[in-house]
Amino acid sequence: MERGSNKRDLIKKIISKKEFSLLPLEDVGLVFENFDKDLYSDEEKVKFSRNLLRKMYTVFLSNKLLKYREKNEEWFLNKHLSTKERMPFYKEVYEKIFSGFKGKTNVYDMGSGVNSFSHYFFPKKLDLNYFGIEAVGQLVEVQKKFFLGKKNFHFFHESLFDLERIKEILKNGNGKKVVFLFKAIDSLEMLKKNYSKTLLEEIVPLVDLVVVSFATKSLGSKKRFFVDRKWIKNFIEKNFELKSSFEEGNEEYILFSKKGL
Ligand SMILES: C[S@@+](CC[C@H](N)C(=O)[O-])C[C@H]1O[C@@H](n2cnc3c(N)ncnc32)[C@H](O)[C@@H]1O
Repeated sequence: MERGSNKRDLIKKIISKKEFSLLPLEDVGLVFENFDKDLYSDEEKVKFSRNLLRKMYTVFLSNKLLKYREKNEEWFLNKHLSTKERMPFYKEVYEKIFSGFKGKTNVYDMGSGVNSFSHYFFPKKLDLNYFGIEAVGQLVEVQKKFFLGKKNFHFFHESLFDLERIKEILKNGNGKKVVFLFKAIDSLEMLKKNYSKTLLEEIVPLVDLVVVSFATKSLGSKKRFFVDRKWIKNFIEKNFELKSSFEEGNEEYILFSKKGL
């Protein structure tokens, strides 16, 4: 690649890799801007952008997932690291999250990966309406195909950085509203520091419960790692009403709502 290729060509080059081909272009642009500096060669700009995009969006998934064939829910859950690790704990996790809920319940799963396939673990007392929001277009397509014709499953190929669109999506659905942000906050913070705070400030008032989760052990291995989550925990405690928090498997969950709910 020659030095000085223009921004459009470099972005085209970045997304020419299949893995990144269906990401929202705005997100690719934001990541690219991080590295669009004179000190980097064009090759480096492409390479570093792809590295960050991989960390934010695709490191968790197996290639097989993108080569979709007819399979059952369990197969899909096992093809994504986050859902795979959660398999033995789903029932417990959902029972804890939904202990105070019954009847019509809308779940907005932000940065959902393939978590819709875990629907059969939801407590049966819920009349579930599921909204999956995910930036990786291939994952959205796989789930749309699988749930075709099921009126209570909806999928959106959107970026969580598009706040207005996210707020629009939250207008869908009657009944109780619950937002999942499972292992998604780290990805957001990689690109825009403190964006999760802005996101939470905007969406918490619109729903009944928000659940954020974090990995407590490193990706793929069982080693516990130390990541300072104090900043987000303090933020939640100061601005919202903490309902509960618990650890299941390799994940810590924090449940909260707007104050006084
Ligand atoms: C660690 S995975 C977790 C997936 C799922 N929430 C789970 O826990 O099973 C993070 C997911 O968030 C998605 N993601 C990251 N940044 C995003 C953004 N700005 N907009 C939409 N999705 C995003 C990634 O593509 C990835 O699927």
